[in-house]
Amino acid sequence: MASSNVTWHESSLSKDVRRVQNGHHSFVIWFTGLSGSGKSTAANAVAAKLYKDGISNYVLDGDNIRHGLNKDLGFSEDDRKENIRRIGEVSKLFVDSGQVVLTAFISPFQADRDIVRDLLDEDEFIEVYVKCSLEECEKRDPKGLYQKARNGLIKDFTGIDSPYEEPKNPEFVLETDRFSIEECVDQLVNYLTERNFI
Ligand code: PPS
Repeated sequence: MASSNVTWHESSLSKDVRRVQNGHHSFVIWFTGLSGSGKSTAANAVAAKLYKDGISNYVLDGDNIRHGLNKDLGFSEDDRKENIRRIGEVSKLFVDSGQVVLTAFISPFQADRDIVRDLLDEDEFIEVYVKCSLEECEKRDPKGLYQKARNGLIKDFTGIDSPYEEPKNPEFVLETDRFSIEECVDQLVNYLTERNFI
C-alpha cells in the first residue's frame, strides 16, 4: 500500500523523450539462476557489449546491492521477496530514465519475478534463465559458499536448503554449463537484435 499524503509527480521529461535522445529502447534484462550459475559474468559481459555499441546501460548485482541499498536484508523467504521487490522498483526507474538495466539476482521465486514483470510494459522485461546444474555450480563454487552450506555454516542456501524455482516461461535461456560465456553473450545479443530490442 502506498503511503498516505503523498502525490505522484509526472516527470517533465517522458520516458519516450529520453529514449529518443538515447537512440534506443529502454528495458530490463533480468538474469535469474543459482549461485555460481554465471549471472553476474553474463550480465557484465552483455553490458560491455551494449556499451561498446553505444547503448546506455547499468548492471544491478545481488552481492553489490546487498552491500548498500539492501544491506538490511538476509536470505529468509520474506527478505528475498523484499530484495526483489526493491530491485524491481529500481529497475523501473532505470527504464524510465531511458537506459537498459541488467539485473543479476538469484531471484528464486517465480511469483516475485512475475511481480517485477507486471511492474513493466510487455516490451520492457526479458527474463533470462541462467541455467546451470546444481552439480556444476557446486563444482565451480567460486566463493566457497556451497562448501560452507554443505558443512552447515550457512543456512537457507539456495539449492541446498532453500528452493530455486526454475522459470516457467523465460524469454531466453543461457546454458552456461554447455556454452562458453562468449557464446552465451552472442546468443543473447542475437536475440535482442532479432526482436528489435537493440
Ligand atoms: S536473492 O535470493 O535473489 O535474494 O539473492 P541475491 O540478492 O541475488 O544474493 C545472492 C548472493 O548472496 C550470496 N549469498 C547467498 N546466496 C544464496 N543463499 C544464501 N543463503 C546466501 N548467502 C550469501 C551469494 O554470493 C550470492 O551471489 P551469487 O552471485 O548468486 O553467487
